[in-house]
Amino acid sequence: MEVLEAIKKRRSIRAFKATPVSQSALDTILEAGRLAPSWANTQTWRWVVVQDPDVKLRIAEQALRPGNRGTDAAKKAPVVIAAFAELNKAGFRDGQPATDKGGYWYMFDAGLALENMALTATSLGLGTLFIGGMNSKEVEKILKSPQGCTCVILMILGHPDEDPEARPRKETAELVLRDGFPEK
Ligand SMILES: Cc1cc2nc3c(=O)[nH]c(=O)nc-3n(C[C@H](O)[C@H](O)[C@H](O)COP(=O)(O)O)c2cc1C
Repeated sequence: MEVLEAIKKRRSIRAFKATPVSQSALDTILEAGRLAPSWANTQTWRWVVVQDPDVKLRIAEQALRPGNRGTDAAKKAPVVIAAFAELNKAGFRDGQPATDKGGYWYMFDAGLALENMALTATSLGLGTLFIGGMNSKEVEKILKSPQGCTCVILMILGHPDEDPEARPRKETAELVLRDGFPEK
């Protein structure tokens, strides 16, 4: 599948079949993440692939914000990828923040890798849902992450059991400016 086709086809999927995700599909998706660009090639990503039903259930019940629309998906989908990042590496030079964005470049890097992964999943006929509405400290506790490593987001992965309409997007004219912002 062409990249643009996958971009157009991807949706947030909140209903999944119980069908497992094959190891080869999982490997391909993780490889797409691994090849993403990152700040000074720091590659601070760590992806915890959760397939144990008990651990998945603990994440869904204990870490997701109450009422999160992705809760059922997190429980039923066969895979939850908890995306972690090592702190204080991306965006730093000689131990100091290198830009006015401080130490947050790991978020940007995480997003780049995860979108690679979501688009690859789409191209393989799989569905994904990002879940940011969670208590990352709780995920870190459940998955026993080391100090200096934070959970950025969850990516739910599985075979879609729905085919939702595309969500609306702003028009290009609202998003794109020519040669700068207009004078106030
Ligand atoms: C950073 C981020 C966090 C998100 N967190 C949640 C979430 O906690 N629960 C949920 O149901 N959807 C979540 N979503 C999915 C968005 O609601 C969804 O991407 C958006 O409505 C556009 O729909 P689409 O993905 O189908 O194009 C999240 C998406 C992103 C990018």
